[in-house]
Amino acid sequence: MGGVMSLRLAVLGSGSGSNCQSIFNAIADGRLDAEVVIVLSDHEDAYILERARQHGVRAEYMDCGGFKNKFPLEVQEALAKKLQELHIDLICLAGFMRLVKAPLLEAFPRRILNIHPALLPAFPGVEAWTQALNAGAKQAGCTVHYVDAGMDTGEILMQAYVPVLPDDTPQTLHARIQVQEHILYPAAILSAISRL
Ligand code: GAR
Repeated sequence: MGGVMSLRLAVLGSGSGSNCQSIFNAIADGRLDAEVVIVLSDHEDAYILERARQHGVRAEYMDCGGFKNKFPLEVQEALAKKLQELHIDLICLAGFMRLVKAPLLEAFPRRILNIHPALLPAFPGVEAWTQALNAGAKQAGCTVHYVDAGMDTGEILMQAYVPVLPDDTPQTLHARIQVQEHILYPAAILSAISRL
């Protein structure tokens, strides 16, 4: 055929995978011309892997050796090699809770994206929505950024705002942010693809 190939994505996540689902949905309804080639998780029973299987997408567990937060360099090296062999164009972190370092960053320069549930540079790190609430922020939101070696520090690609309401709990605020995440991430991936 020799037509233009769609972009090949890898998605990494640690949890429920609702952002991964939003990428599947955007591809299915034609908003995103891409293919999710593989989904990987550092938790064997993470629902993100089940979602991938339901979509007929290769789903793999990455054993991080029992470390809770560390992403062992040898695991990152093996992953970089695997993703290069699969001709992955873009890696999307979707609720992945470990820090990516040189082996992956050097193999995929400006080709790794992350979604974070805050208006970066405010509130990096875990439970950003709870941080925003505790700080008395009037606005919260989400950010898609390029990944560098820092924690939620890379160049910002797109953001979406949500209001913080007076009776918000961490759960209600996170739910409101997630509605925006699911719109923002596919749009930001499309933008990143256009800049490759
Ligand atoms: C999302 O809210 C994502 O922004 C956040 O984890 C959640 C994963 O949800 N990521 C981080 O906090 C990264 N620092 P999901 O598994 O349903 O997509």
